[in-house]
Amino acid sequence: MRYISLVCLTLQTTTIIILYSYSRKVPEGSVVYLSSTVVVLAEVLKICFCFGVILKDANYSLVKCVSTLKAEIFFNIRESMRVLIPASLYALQNNLAFYALNNLDPASYQVAYQLKILTTAIFSVLIVEKRIRQKQWIALSLLFAGITLVQLPQDEAHVIKSTKLAVSHEQNRLLGLLAVIACCMSSGFSGVYFERLIKLNPKQDLWIRNLQLAILCLAMSSIAMFYQDYEAIKTNGLLQGYSRIVWILVFLQAFGGLIVAAVVKHADNILKGFATSLSIIFSTLLSFYLFETFNPSMNFYIGSTVVIISTIMYSS
Ligand code: C5P
Repeated sequence: MRYISLVCLTLQTTTIIILYSYSRKVPEGSVVYLSSTVVVLAEVLKICFCFGVILKDANYSLVKCVSTLKAEIFFNIRESMRVLIPASLYALQNNLAFYALNNLDPASYQVAYQLKILTTAIFSVLIVEKRIRQKQWIALSLLFAGITLVQLPQDEAHVIKSTKLAVSHEQNRLLGLLAVIACCMSSGFSGVYFERLIKLNPKQDLWIRNLQLAILCLAMSSIAMFYQDYEAIKTNGLLQGYSRIVWILVFLQAFGGLIVAAVVKHADNILKGFATSLSIIFSTLLSFYLFETFNPSMNFYIGSTVVIISTIMYSS
């Protein structure tokens, strides 16, 4: 189960990043979908999926399932509210991640997002008093150096303009990077907090916890969606610009969240970082072949290699 969930997470991370970048490249003049709606619909899908699993565990008895939900979620407000902080942070993080991807090329986004290994380590020390060995601190410093290398500006020779499809917006690498840093802070804190919640109370069903989280995430993401895009939704509707690819994105976003929960339960947050760093290799290779706008420089190759080595060093 541990390795299956890690492999699934690697594949999901790679695919969602590539598909997201692809989905934003639309012919000029077309309506682009709103990424805030993807986050909201993914939460709806997670709720349906969690409900399905809880129903199955209740031997498909709707009465039993509803009474479990009442007892565990609706009449146990104190326990449900424990996930309010990670739910709010994840809602913000999921929106910021799409914002960052809008402003960075997929490969740079992936590598910068590895900083979450550092934030996860720091929060593990602060929240669960985890001991980090000297070798691991060295690995974390290497990680930082690698990410800095990757983020050095690409020289002109390595930035090729695509002629087939126009990117529908201007990119701002600095804002993209700041958004990734915020995501890393949220990911580190929420990951450790959620892991602590499920490991402190192993009898608590994982799917009930996921449902609590998804319900609160849905509430928070809906607020964020209306705050950001109310006018656009009022004019062109919730599903403006939705294509088959966008629906796949919604599915992958929901599926990814549920795998994260399984990885944290069966492995831990550090191994989760290892899985995502493998996906750097895949998304770099794929973005190199699929998009004509990015041709990695030497800095990128050296930086990525250092990031991957440091991840292995940290996890081994
Ligand atoms: O990058 P990171 O591992 O922090 O990503 C966490 C993602 O997983 C977020 O999109 C969050 O909404 C989702 N998640 C979830 N259910 C959990 C834990 C995380 O849907 N139990």
